[in-house]
Amino acid sequence: MNQLLALLVAVAVVSAEVHQFNIGYRPNLRQRMNAVGKLGEYEKERQARISKKSLQAVQSSSPIIDYEDMAYMVQISLGTPAQNFVLFIDSGSSNLWVPDATCAGGKDDTCGSYCKSTPYDACLTFCQPECCFKDLASAPKVLSAANACQSKHRFNATLSSSYSSNGQKFDMTYNTGEVKGFFGVETFCFTNTTACATGQTFGQATTIGEAFAKQPEDGIIGLGWPALAVNQQTPPLFNLLNQGKLDLPYFVVYLANIGPTSQINGGAFTVGGLDTTHCDSNVDWVPLTSQTFWQIKLSGVSSGSYSQAPTAGWQAAADTAASFIGAPKSVVTGLAKAVGATYIPLTGAFFMDCDAVVPDIVFTINGKTYNMPSTSFVVSAGPGPCMFAFYELTAGGFYPAWMLGPPFMRAYCHVHDMQAGRLGLSKAL
Ligand SMILES: *[C@@H]1O[C@H](CO)[C@@H](O)[C@H](O)[C@H]1NC(C)=O
Ligand SMILES: *[C@@H]1O[C@H](CO)[C@@H](O)[C@H](O)[C@H]1NC(C)=O
Repeated sequence: MNQLLALLVAVAVVSAEVHQFNIGYRPNLRQRMNAVGKLGEYEKERQARISKKSLQAVQSSSPIIDYEDMAYMVQISLGTPAQNFVLFIDSGSSNLWVPDATCAGGKDDTCGSYCKSTPYDACLTFCQPECCFKDLASAPKVLSAANACQSKHRFNATLSSSYSSNGQKFDMTYNTGEVKGFFGVETFCFTNTTACATGQTFGQATTIGEAFAKQPEDGIIGLGWPALAVNQQTPPLFNLLNQGKLDLPYFVVYLANIGPTSQINGGAFTVGGLDTTHCDSNVDWVPLTSQTFWQIKLSGVSSGSYSQAPTAGWQAAADTAASFIGAPKSVVTGLAKAVGATYIPLTGAFFMDCDAVVPDIVFTINGKTYNMPSTSFVVSAGPGPCMFAFYELTAGGFYPAWMLGPPFMRAYCHVHDMQAGRLGLSKAL
C-alpha cells in the first residue's frame, strides 16, 4: 500500500472553510487487462459473474455498481487517532465502507481465473500476489490462501476513542461482488484536512467479494444523495453540510488523467467552495431531476453528422465511478460510427486509432451545449489501439439511461450543490 499512499499526498488547504486535496488515479481494471492482452478472457469471466450477480441484485433491489471500472480515489480517515483509508469516489452510491479488522476475507478462491494464466509480472498489476505464479504450469486450480481483506487497510475499533457501535448489519451487492458487514459510528475526515464530521455511520466490512481483492483500494465513499444510501445512512458530505463545516454547500470534482499509467495527479476534490484553480469561474447550474443520483436531463447528443434528441430527453447521472460513459445502445453505435470506433465483440469494448482526428461529442443540457474533445473520450490502454470511452448501458427500473462518467468530467468540472439540489458545470481549465 505504501506506493499507493505516496500517490495520494494531499496539497495544502486553500482557505478557512474550503478544503482541496488531490484525487488519485489508476487505470481501471479494463484498461489494465487490455494492456496485458487479457481483455477478452477477462470479459468472458466477468459476464459470467455479472449475470449471476445481477439476478441477486434484482432480488435485493440494491444498487448495481461496477466496481471494476473505478479509477479515481481519495484518502479519508476514521477514528481517534486517525486510521487512514484509500477509497474510490462513487457518485452513483451513497454509503461509506471500509474493511474491518475482523474481515476474514472470502472463504472462496478469490483469484480470477485469468490471474492464474497470466505471466507473473503482468499478473501482479491486477491480481493479488497470492494469485500470481512464476511457473504457470504449477499454479493450483483452486487457491485458498487469497484473502480479499489481507492486503487492505482495516479499521480496528478498539484502537479508537471516538468509536461507537450501531448494531445494524448491511449487505450490499455490487456488479462484481458482495460486501457484508455491520455499521459503526465514527469521526470522519478527509485525510489531513479539517473537513471532519462527527457521528458518521459507516460500514465495517467483514466479507468482501472477489472483485475487491483485485483492487488495491480499501473501500468506497459514496457521493450520492442520502435517499440512495443503504439503511438511510447520511453520507459523509451531507454530514459535513449538516454540521456546518462547509462555507458553501458544494463539493467539486475536477478530473484530470486518463491513460494507462498511474499518476499522482488524477484531479482535485474541493469541499465547501468552488475550485478556482482548475475550473472556469462561470458555472452553469442545471436543476436535478432526482435527488438520488446526481441526476439531470440530457436533451441531446451529436457528433459530426450524427445527432439525437428525443422529445423527452434522457435521464442522465453524473458518475465518478464508471470510467467510461454509459449510454443507450443505439446512441453508442451512432457515436462510434461518427468517430470511427469499432466494436470488438470478444472484448465487449470499442476501439479506435489513438491519433484519429475526429469531431467533438456535443451534449445539450438545459439549453446549452457542452463539447467533449477527443482527448477526453479516446483513452489509451497500453500498446495497440485506444479505447473509445463509451459503453452500452442497459438501464432498467429507476436507473437513468445515461451514466455521465469521467470522460465528461475531464472536460467539465462538476459542482455538486447539496443544498439547492443542482449540478454546476464549468469548463475544466
Ligand atoms: C498526512 O500528514 C502526515 C503527517 O504530516 C503525512 O505523513 C502524510 O503523508 C499525509 N497524508 C496525506 C494523504 O497527505
Ligand atoms: C485491534 O487492535 C488491538 C490493539 O492493538 C489488537 O489487540 C487486536 O488484535 C486488533 N484486532 C484485530 C481484529 O486485529
